[in-house]
Amino acid sequence: MKKIYEGKAKEVYETENKDEYIIKYKDTATAGNGEKKEDFEGKGALNLKITTIIFEMLEKANIKTHYIETLSDSEMKVKKVEILPLEVIVRNISAGSFAKRYGVDEGIVFENPTFELSYKNDDLGDPLMCEDHAIALGLITKKEYDYIKEETLKINSLLKEFFININLKLVDFKIEFGKDKDGNIILADEISPDTCRLWDKDTNEKLDKDIFRRNLGSLTKGYEEVLKRMQK
Ligand code: TMP
Repeated sequence: MKKIYEGKAKEVYETENKDEYIIKYKDTATAGNGEKKEDFEGKGALNLKITTIIFEMLEKANIKTHYIETLSDSEMKVKKVEILPLEVIVRNISAGSFAKRYGVDEGIVFENPTFELSYKNDDLGDPLMCEDHAIALGLITKKEYDYIKEETLKINSLLKEFFININLKLVDFKIEFGKDKDGNIILADEISPDTCRLWDKDTNEKLDKDIFRRNLGSLTKGYEEVLKRMQK
């Protein structure tokens, strides 16, 4: 297999089928645009299992994703897409960069979810990007923006319900979309505790990558707890 891309947490390989890729989930965790970096044995397998369960749930709810099948402890077969250079972020509760930017506490529950984009560009530190700027730069059309927003808010509703059923609050998350060979925009990348903030419903214990970002204990123990609740 020919590696065509290596990111901070995943590698992408071409397959014999020109319309499919294989994604390998790595054990590496990074934070602060790669400034903090560490390997945790088993993290890739945990994220792959969690993403698989979530993508299968979303597909059942008619959300189009790149997911085809999970092949092993580290490999997922997906539809080939061209990833849009946008991070799509939804927040249900204040935390992270939101709390920092506006100087507010974490934990404020919003009446409505917020929707935001940032420009995927490591050199620029993934800056926040408004709708008009994404359109002006030709990254997406107005129609695509509207579709992505609508689809993302549907995904938020599905994920929120899914997680609250296992006693987890979905604080916020980041997703990425890609364009398939026919130009359709579909959900891609991963949905895992690397890309979501998940707090225990009763204790607010953090069970996501903030464990690593803030040195709160064992990252894999937190991810194992999330997976265990999903498998019940
Ligand atoms: P933030 O509060 O740092 O902006 O993060 C919001 C959510 O997006 C949080 O669940 C973590 C996730 N996220 C990523 O998955 N990748 C990223 O590069 C960033 C900045 C955030």
